[in-house]
Amino acid sequence: MKGLFITMEGPDGSGKTTQIEELKKFFNDKAYEVVITREPGGTDISEHIRSIILDVNNDNLSYMAEALLYAASRAQHVEEKIKPALEAGKVVICDRFVDSSIVYQGYARKIGIEVVESINRFALMGIQPDITFFFDIRPEDAMDRKVSQKSLDRLEKEDISFHKLVYEGYKILLKRYPKRIRRIDASKSIDEVKNQIISEINRFLEGGLY
Ligand code: TYD
Repeated sequence: MKGLFITMEGPDGSGKTTQIEELKKFFNDKAYEVVITREPGGTDISEHIRSIILDVNNDNLSYMAEALLYAASRAQHVEEKIKPALEAGKVVICDRFVDSSIVYQGYARKIGIEVVESINRFALMGIQPDITFFFDIRPEDAMDRKVSQKSLDRLEKEDISFHKLVYEGYKILLKRYPKRIRRIDASKSIDEVKNQIISEINRFLEGGLY
């Protein structure tokens, strides 16, 4: 695959969205074509699926159905948008991807990391991120940021113990994929976080991997 696939992961409220915009500017300045997208969502069909998953009225959605809906939304997203963009040599920056499913559904919902990985093998069609940024921030601090911002969706309404599990799950993934997943200290200022990300990207680009 010719393009570069970057994913952004971390607890709700860790500041991913702001940094995605910063990273887009960085690549545009270097004349790379950039596609920004997000999960769940990214295509019309995937956004429909997203609204089912995040609807506060669907409080009886089973955990397994939830995991399969995320994977279904991802399958459409990969096939319709991510894969073609990478084949065309573009930089794809995705707000959340399969690691979110592994952590939220596999670890925090306790479906099992291996089960969620195997469901997602169908969805991914061999596509994996080249580099993943984990926005490391204490779940309590991330929740404080989020609560001050807007009304909360179904997953954000989970109590703090759920968000602590999510955080633990990410730490496990970090150990499992030390090359692909880079830890970013997201408690720092916007500029400091941006600099951490850019220096990781520069190191990656200098490695001649893209
Ligand atoms: P979203 O509203 O996009 O916001 P943010 O990334 O800013 O928190 O979050 C969607 C929610 O869906 C979020 O709480 C994480 C969750 N999620 C999963 O549980 N599994 C997944 O596979 C994905 C992609 C997201």
